[in-house]
Amino acid sequence: MLPDPENHYPLIAPSMLSADFGNLQRDIEMVNASEADWFHIDVMDGVFVPNISFGFPVLKHIQKHARKPLDVHLMIIDPDRYLERFREHGADVISVHYEACTHLHRTIHAIKKLGAKAGVVLNPHSPVSLLEEIIDDTDLVMLMSVNPGFGGQSFIDGTLGKITALRELMARKNTDAIIEVDGGVTLENAPRLVKAGAQVLVAGYTVFGSPDPANVISALKNL
Ligand code: DX5
Ligand code: ZN
Repeated sequence: MLPDPENHYPLIAPSMLSADFGNLQRDIEMVNASEADWFHIDVMDGVFVPNISFGFPVLKHIQKHARKPLDVHLMIIDPDRYLERFREHGADVISVHYEACTHLHRTIHAIKKLGAKAGVVLNPHSPVSLLEEIIDDTDLVMLMSVNPGFGGQSFIDGTLGKITALRELMARKNTDAIIEVDGGVTLENAPRLVKAGAQVLVAGYTVFGSPDPANVISALKNL
């Protein structure tokens, strides 16, 4: 389900937020047939972020047609209430925001208990040092390179330094987690992100805003 260390990084996770929901199955099949590794699924509640995306009825259809792991990014308050249902809807990775979890340690272990990989997401303003006491428990860290809520925003440059800081933290703690970057990823900035240590690249607008999405996925995969 998740990559072994020999896997060819970066993994590419097209964000279905930018898919054409009128042609959702077509776009899912495009991702299935492409060099993409994961489906990135953005769930927004209109409270934690100033936008509402989609929930279980849509996810059910994605689950039905997707033949690659589902990387679920929860931009919702109190995610504990819904973890089990997301797992039932096929989530292989479940990532929650540091800023949305009062008892993050409990949440991370609840995700793992369900058999999914557990990710922690940091907003652009949240320093990597916040992960000091939780990094050992975490399978994946997602660094937001835009303020979450919308696709198609511009990349925030400070993210590059945060990738380095995260690698340093993990080296110092002698632990390992997959580093994912989400927001404003383009063919232009992707090489720098991978060089800095990003292992999963989320891309919404860059992929689905292109006339040839599969080709863009391939270009990101083979930077
Ligand atoms: C933002 C979402 C992202 C977004 C990425 O809140 O978490 O996953 O869809 O879209 P782009 O790649 O267009 O910035
Ligand atoms: Zn996302």
